[in-house]
Amino acid sequence: MSDGLEDVVAAHTVLSEVDGAAGRLVIRGHSLDELAGHTSFEEMAALMLDGFVPDLPRQKQLQVALGEARKELFETIVKREAAPVTLSPVEMVRAMTALIPDGEGTRVVLKLLAAPAVFTPAALRLRRGLAPVPPDPSLPQAADTLRMLTGAAPTTQQAAALDTYLVTVADHGLNASTFAARVVASTRAGLVSAVLAGIGALQGPLHGGAPGPVIEMLDAIGTPENARAWLEAALDRGDRLMGFGHRIYRVRDPRADALKGALRRLGADAGRLGLAEAVEQAALAILRERKPNRTLETNVEFYTALLLEALGFTPDSFTCVFALGRTTGWLAHAQEQIAGGKLIRPQSVYVGPQSRQAA
Ligand code: ACO
Repeated sequence: MSDGLEDVVAAHTVLSEVDGAAGRLVIRGHSLDELAGHTSFEEMAALMLDGFVPDLPRQKQLQVALGEARKELFETIVKREAAPVTLSPVEMVRAMTALIPDGEGTRVVLKLLAAPAVFTPAALRLRRGLAPVPPDPSLPQAADTLRMLTGAAPTTQQAAALDTYLVTVADHGLNASTFAARVVASTRAGLVSAVLAGIGALQGPLHGGAPGPVIEMLDAIGTPENARAWLEAALDRGDRLMGFGHRIYRVRDPRADALKGALRRLGADAGRLGLAEAVEQAALAILRERKPNRTLETNVEFYTALLLEALGFTPDSFTCVFALGRTTGWLAHAQEQIAGGKLIRPQSVYVGPQSRQAA
């Protein structure tokens, strides 16, 4: 057994394959390059859930059904329940999601796909003392999320950039949050519980909680000239450089390039992008010098931070937007686990003291 189950295969899946040696991600037979930038949130959800939720509405009908689900969540939860505004945004989204009655089936799937799109903008506005903006069910989910965040219609480029992000992070093999969702789904606890397990695992800084700290790092570095000294000092303190390294990828994370492309298409602040590129190059060089036996490359979180910042999300909400994309994957994996029917229950090796009676 290896610590962290590094070499353990815990599921057979038709959903996605992460080829860590080649730096390739395949989702349901499509490479990430084919999907990111060419697929909407709705199309990705339909692709992921195909065959797992037989009566899921198709194409335009899915956009309509998700719009209705957003409206229902806004009316029944955002408007009626007291929001826990002292919590962080991801804790608020987790708390509001927990108010959805648990179960399985299409209605629950639609509500869970819609939940972070409604709860993230509502949480951010409520924490600022602003009234939440009701959803516009006629819009695609990415555009409506940005509209609910700012109160104004996003540009086509902004909505497309958010779609690219959501598609890029929709699924990624048996990552920690997906595994957590599958474990809970295997007990038949219900899809809400499975998604809550996913959110809980995702919010940790070694998983989906890294992009907020990436912004803190860029702000602290300030100018490209400071990058090397700042990064060296961080490593001297024993810190990890956020946005670098990955359990599976031993080459560059392909999602980092997909997001960098989306940033360029968005026409993001060139100065900020220039600083990020300088920090990235310095970090890669230092990590190569300090860890010559371990390939540590840029991961998805580095450019996630810049893209979500450019779209108007605050760093403390980045994990919520990640959850919006990854819920698609959690639900598809939960459904696949339920269809397989087997409870996930591994064993442990006891290494503590024996009782006197046994001795
Ligand atoms: N900065 C500095 N050193 C690092 C980093 C990093 N970002 N990542 C790994 N290392 C070092 C470790 O200190 C360790 O060194 P040692 O062998 O001398 O003790 C070695 O590389 C191996 O580290 P592990 O933790 O065993 O590697 P693992 O594969 O478990 O870690 C992880 C993967 C958790 C992502 C790690 O690279 C990390 O902490 N990165 C920073 C946080 C981050 O960016 N998280 C987002 C990941 S992407 C995602 O989940 C969506």
